[in-house]
Amino acid sequence: MAPVCLSRSLGWLSRAIPLLLALSAGRAPALPEICKYCPGPVYDKSEVDLYCKQRQELTLSARCCLTKQGTIVGLDLQNCSLKELDPLFTEAHSAIVLDLKANPFEYISFSFRNFTELQILVLPRKVDCPGGHNAWDNITCGPDSCTCHGQIQCNSTVEPALCPENAYCVSDGPGLFQCLCTAGFHGYKCLREGSFPLLMFSGILGTTTFCISILLWGTQLRKIRAS
Ligand SMILES: *[C@@H]1O[C@H](CO)[C@@H](O)[C@H](O)[C@H]1NC(C)=O
Ligand SMILES: *[C@@H]1O[C@H](CO)[C@@H](O)[C@H](O)[C@H]1NC(C)=O
Ligand SMILES: *[C@@H]1O[C@H](CO)[C@@H](O)[C@H](O)[C@H]1NC(C)=O
Ligand SMILES: *[C@@H]1O[C@H](CO)[C@@H](O)[C@H](O)[C@H]1NC(C)=O
Repeated sequence: MAPVCLSRSLGWLSRAIPLLLALSAGRAPALPEICKYCPGPVYDKSEVDLYCKQRQELTLSARCCLTKQGTIVGLDLQNCSLKELDPLFTEAHSAIVLDLKANPFEYISFSFRNFTELQILVLPRKVDCPGGHNAWDNITCGPDSCTCHGQIQCNSTVEPALCPENAYCVSDGPGLFQCLCTAGFHGYKCLREGSFPLLMFSGILGTTTFCISILLWGTQLRKIRAS
């Protein structure tokens, strides 16, 4: 009887151990690398600190403010001697608050594509807000830094020219958007009727008319050559 019991409990144990491991892993998700990009914690009274402490469900860890699931909500990389924004920075695409002040970079070479949640971005004074003035609700400046507030969302109702017929725009970061086919259409310029919505193209607000003109010019030219 005893050996049977033993093998049963061993069997149970062998199934339970991976489960327990998985559970403990779920409780403490790995801290994203970008949170440890430079030493020290989030600065006291910084935008990230204030935002995080106002919300009980969020926790501060290294340079980040995180949800229980480990999603980055805030990232404070002020005073980190950043000369440029590392590609690793894409890890922070879910951030609502980003503080990059007191760093020596003078322009942004990094694309903020997919930073759709971003609402507060603090930059060194010399650096322009990504997407320019038109991409933000307002921009306020202090002696050493400027803050870009409230990313402006694109809206197909207000700007129907951004995307072709049978498509609508969705914001894809500050001053950036994508055109998606409306339900029932797909393919190039969403001209084909079908079942699934599909990404058509991405663009930069403000330069679209120019791009569309080039596109039209190109297609016209091909038609002329063909005839
Ligand atoms: C910036 O960081 C350095 C250490 O890297 C520290 O000595 C200095 O006090 C910090 N500056 C501010 C304004 O906190
Ligand atoms: C963009 O963000 C979404 C979640 O917000 C993520 O699932 C997706 O992988 C990201 N895409 C890229 C290209 O990083
Ligand atoms: C700037 O916009 C934010 C919201 O995006 C708002 O809370 C803030 O009051 C605005 N500040 C000014 C000076 O308009
Ligand atoms: C787009 O603008 C219209 C008219 O101002 C508004 O009713 C609608 O809610 C907006 N849509 C989005 C997604 O913001």
